[in-house]
Amino acid sequence: MLHARFTAHPAFSVGPVPPRLFGSFVEHMGRCVYTGIYEPGHITADDDGFRQDVMELVRELGVTTIRYPGGNFVSGYRWEDGVGPADQRPKRLDLAWHTTETNQFGLNEFMRWAEQAGVEPMMAVNLGTRGVREALDLLEYTNHPGGSALSDQRIADGVSEPHNVRMWCLGNEMDGPWQTGHKTAAEYGRLAAETAKAMRQYDPTLELVACGSSNMDMPTFGAWESEVLEEAWDAIDFVSLHAYYEPIDGDIDSFLASAVGMDRFIEAVIATADSVAARRHSPKRLGLSFDEWNVWYAREFQAEGTGPEWSQAPRLIEDEYTVTDAVVVGSLLISLLRHSDRVTSASLAQLVNVIAPIRSEPDGPAWRQTIFHPFAQTAARAKGRVLRTTQTAPTLPTARYGDAPVVATVLTHDEQTGSLVLFAINRARSDSVALVGDVATFGTLTVGTSLVVTDADPLATNTADHQDRVTPVPLDKVELLDGELHLQLPPLSWVTVTLERT
Ligand code: AHR
Repeated sequence: MLHARFTAHPAFSVGPVPPRLFGSFVEHMGRCVYTGIYEPGHITADDDGFRQDVMELVRELGVTTIRYPGGNFVSGYRWEDGVGPADQRPKRLDLAWHTTETNQFGLNEFMRWAEQAGVEPMMAVNLGTRGVREALDLLEYTNHPGGSALSDQRIADGVSEPHNVRMWCLGNEMDGPWQTGHKTAAEYGRLAAETAKAMRQYDPTLELVACGSSNMDMPTFGAWESEVLEEAWDAIDFVSLHAYYEPIDGDIDSFLASAVGMDRFIEAVIATADSVAARRHSPKRLGLSFDEWNVWYAREFQAEGTGPEWSQAPRLIEDEYTVTDAVVVGSLLISLLRHSDRVTSASLAQLVNVIAPIRSEPDGPAWRQTIFHPFAQTAARAKGRVLRTTQTAPTLPTARYGDAPVVATVLTHDEQTGSLVLFAINRARSDSVALVGDVATFGTLTVGTSLVVTDADPLATNTADHQDRVTPVPLDKVELLDGELHLQLPPLSWVTVTLERT
């Protein structure tokens, strides 16, 4: 048995839990849209073709924002193809994923779906093969009430009210050589600045996200951010971060410590953004939008390729997640919460089928993957303020990140109700951890619900036939003794405990 401790105090907080931290991502990729959220003819589909079995799971997941329509897809996308009468929409070749896009689902369908799901849409504009003009056209079509050519076109398309999208991504992964229309930092910085400036000429209150690096291992990481932010500083509100984690060469301990990598990535981008602020004598503190993050067994995808060339909605990167992956996703959520003073927007990539918490089969069922559970429980329970805690724990030696703490913890405190919620993970694969938390300064508390996600088999998954093999179950023997919380984290587990104020 290993031992770890944390101390929390109501006066020490990171800040309020940002609602946009629990976002996700819908890209026209694989089966995320087609046979994912949209499948006319499915037994649960409504009149718009939206699968209601998937819709129920999206609501249960508790996602707050959805980034759309890509992803690498957006860099070749013509938004006009996806509006107007569906039978007149063109089929296009999507160069990002070598598929055929039918455009049967487009902007207005997405907005209707988002409204039904109760999520805030976050749009990406194409700055790969397009530029300022097309971004402005999309903005006018989307947000202008009426009385101009494009807003009247939207009204003629049957949508009388503007969509009023607040948050816009200025392209996607423009640092990546794989991106259609890839740019240097200087080229992208200018384009992002001019696009943002023009969009603000229409509406200065928009929230605009410039592309940061596609991941921390990019050779241009750091230099890219510095140059882009120097160029676009006054016109943008956020810089993006993307990261996918996987076991490399079977190194599970490093994989379990992925959140240490996420911490370092976030802290390096904050340092870079703040150094640009310092050079410019600017009091501005740029937001971070971690708008793609997840576990992705990317090497398998690279080995297999994209599948049948130019097919419609093929099966792409439908990773089947294990309980180990769920623990990693839980730890990444802890990292995001711990940095939520600066990371105020994040998107689990993606939502359905494509490296997703929700799986669906054409004409078949929809179910929760293992990673669904830590996300849904965190989104539902993290209320009020994130607390700044101190922690002591044994370490796990890892090849990639050095010594990583065996335990990661974060707490949120709802000042209205007085309740306190703990989220914790145990990275040790064969040891339980006795965790003790000093919560004496929060007054008299009682233990509410305690849940654990764990399994004797670290590779356990949920499948169409065994949809609930991995699911949260009550955690026993959680006690409060003299202002101290006592619990045991089983090996390789994600845990949450609610403490209610009495
Ligand atoms: O989410 C899958 C892909 O990963 C996205 O299209 C791209 O932005 C990233 O490289």
